[in-house]
Amino acid sequence: MPCSGRVEAEFIVIAFKNGADGVFVSGCRPGDCHYKEGNYKAARRFHLLKRVLTSMGIEPERLGMAWISGSEGKRFAETMTEFDKLIRELGPNTLKGSLAHSPEVSGW
Ligand code: FES
Repeated sequence: MPCSGRVEAEFIVIAFKNGADGVFVSGCRPGDCHYKEGNYKAARRFHLLKRVLTSMGIEPERLGMAWISGSEGKRFAETMTEFDKLIRELGPNTLKGSLAHSPEVSGW
């Protein structure tokens, strides 16, 4: 995606429905979004989505977010390694394939 603000909540829900064990959204640091407010929109969506995931029986930790610029490759790699470790500790998404009738989360 060109901007974290373009990551719709339903994309994340669909990823979990399709069996993703974790989803991570990364965007530009606050104030650095090329589309001005995309990362602020993403942050608001992230907090609401954590609650929705919990209500769906998905551990909210399975959704991660960080503000990392394109020039911070080392930090990005470290953050992904940490997230991967967390997801492995949580184990597989136990709701894989069982969310066919979960609520739609569009228009956020
Ligand atoms: S361009 Fe919007 S978060 Fe990076």
